[in-house]
Amino acid sequence: MKTIIANWKMNVGVRESVALARATLLTLRGRKQIPELVICPPLVALSETRKVVAHSAVSLGAQNVFWKDAGAFTGEVSGRMLTELGVSHVIIGHSERRAHLGETDAMVNLKVLHALEVGLIPIVCVGETRDQRNGGRALEVVREQVLAAFKSARLRSNDRLYVAYEPVWAIGTGEACTVDNALETHAMIRDMLAKQFSGDQLKVLYGGSVDGENAYGFLREREVDGVLVGGASVKINQFKDVVAAASEVLEAQHD
Ligand code: PGA
Repeated sequence: MKTIIANWKMNVGVRESVALARATLLTLRGRKQIPELVICPPLVALSETRKVVAHSAVSLGAQNVFWKDAGAFTGEVSGRMLTELGVSHVIIGHSERRAHLGETDAMVNLKVLHALEVGLIPIVCVGETRDQRNGGRALEVVREQVLAAFKSARLRSNDRLYVAYEPVWAIGTGEACTVDNALETHAMIRDMLAKQFSGDQLKVLYGGSVDGENAYGFLREREVDGVLVGGASVKINQFKDVVAAASEVLEAQHD
């Protein structure tokens, strides 16, 4: 199975999210093999978007979560509250949150533990900056982020866990990393987590300037379980091609 995560970021309001969810559903129509598709609207649009995707093959994800069940945490939302809205997946530690909201590896770890506890599937984002890559530290940085994010994490038999390798310099820049670069990092991540989690519970995805043109090149690789799509997920013509690429790969595997 291949997975596509659509991260709508703060790009669409409630009405636009409803319209985009409808259009996204249509991208699956008529396909023999469909990928797992998770749309992540802004928090305020989750309820309305849920009405569109309920009883469909599309799952609902959130873009963030807090790590406590309840309490005096103004402005925050717990995992249980998200599950009440029909949310099944949650993005944790996106580089935009790390950069603009001061999210640390320790906070990412607390969020991962909380998400697993309430039965949400964490989609943990890791990736190096341009300077870190140029300094030859890309793998080391990702290694540290992965180690920190999953400290003390245990999966129950039905739990699942996604890691999205998203080089910071590739996000929103139109400059995706090379497939080889992604494969090298994916292999390291998988290797690191092999002892802690079983292979069928873990998915490793690529994110960063994925679009209709380059999606197939990533998705056809066995090591790439899917893609996390930002900018191109709110441009339905682009997104349609990403879904088509995943379907094509799945159909080829099925034949
Ligand atoms: P992008 O964003 O596809 O616009 O580069 C990816 C992401 O959500 O991080």
